[in-house]
Amino acid sequence: MMSKSDFFHDAAILDANDPLKEFRSLFCNPGERLVYLDGNSLGMLPSATAGYIDDIVTRRWGERLIRSYNEGWWNKPEELGARIARLTGARPDEVIVCDSVSVNMFKMIVAALREKEGRLKIVSDELNFGTDLYIIQGAADLLGKGHRLHLMKSRDGITVGDDETDGAIDNDTALVSLSHVSFRSSFMYDMPGVTSLAHERGAFILWDLCHAVGAVPIDLNGANADFAAGCTYKYLNGGPGATAFMYVRKDLQEKLSSPIWGWWADADPFSFNTGFVPAGGMRRFLAGSVPILSSSTLETSLDIFEKAGMARIRKKSLEMSGFFLELFKRHLAHIGFRLGSPNDGAHRGSHISLRHPEAYRICKALIDESEGEWTIIPDFRTPDNIRIGFAPLYNTFREIAIITSELGRIVRDKVFEKYDTEKEVVT
Ligand SMILES: Cc1ncc(COP(=O)(O)O)c(C=O)c1O
Repeated sequence: MMSKSDFFHDAAILDANDPLKEFRSLFCNPGERLVYLDGNSLGMLPSATAGYIDDIVTRRWGERLIRSYNEGWWNKPEELGARIARLTGARPDEVIVCDSVSVNMFKMIVAALREKEGRLKIVSDELNFGTDLYIIQGAADLLGKGHRLHLMKSRDGITVGDDETDGAIDNDTALVSLSHVSFRSSFMYDMPGVTSLAHERGAFILWDLCHAVGAVPIDLNGANADFAAGCTYKYLNGGPGATAFMYVRKDLQEKLSSPIWGWWADADPFSFNTGFVPAGGMRRFLAGSVPILSSSTLETSLDIFEKAGMARIRKKSLEMSGFFLELFKRHLAHIGFRLGSPNDGAHRGSHISLRHPEAYRICKALIDESEGEWTIIPDFRTPDNIRIGFAPLYNTFREIAIITSELGRIVRDKVFEKYDTEKEVVT
């Protein structure tokens, strides 16, 4: 069996040869003893962000005041959307930054269901994130037409098979709504394949990109996707509650109507007319004021992505997860850990879930600052998943060696037994 010193040695070689190694210094270092493997929940803070936001607050807000809207703020949703379009394989005028993922999904789901009048089935899967399913149910309830949600099953709790999608999407399906990368298992759907199946059967498709954007290359146009939404606080490092984005394919935009008729979506917002006339293009999907501060945080992070390039980020992500899986097989599989993610990188995003009956208490031990040499932050997803996020812009192979060695120690020495099972609100 490979010893601990062997795998630290291997990690050192991989780090030395990492073409992205310089990028780590572009993020705030929260301390030499902290290993942060939760960029799939809340990305790290780029070092340039605080100064950039300080300038927006003190100069653009403090001095330029309302004039700043004409000096760039009014068009911020489109400007940032165009930059996110480059990461998602969309045209610059197909993406806009606004609201939360939940609200953006609501707007697109209602618009899509109205457009496919007469079709009453909505297809998703049982692995999907809560909000996605709740918004579908709420939209169906609001429309009152008898739409029903069909949840495709996962045989292994990790993936959804092609036979499931083939069996579920039929000629009554109005909308297929799926996460490109599953939040729990990291399973990645074949976006072009499932999109063309939905289209063959006459349905729209909406992709949730929360765990995919900034983590894997995405080609919305290549797949001919209809709708997508994603958040910017995970791999995109926009900060807590940073503004989300939405995509609607160009040829659909003017055919559809958002159910929220807010003034930012009006064709002539400063006329303050009493009747709403939707703006052209993606602007018609806005609602009210777009938060300037929590959108602008994205700019410094997108600068980093544009320098690094998604191809290099994905390459390192696969190398990181490949290295981790090798260590998992040698050091963790025989002490009660099971893999909760696809083994094949081609079907996986940039995080890996490890399952263990004591997952929650193991997480507590990893995070406890007074336990052991390291403070390690992954996250926990019920019932038994420890999610380990690989953010290639700032994570190192050494950090993978550290979490492997600590997971082994905490289980072998039963360190987790010191902790109770009481859950914090955010796990
Ligand atoms: C997969 C997925 N979809 C949707 C959301 C919800 O996003 P928001 O809070 O912006 O509505 C999240 C949040 O973590 C998520 O992980």
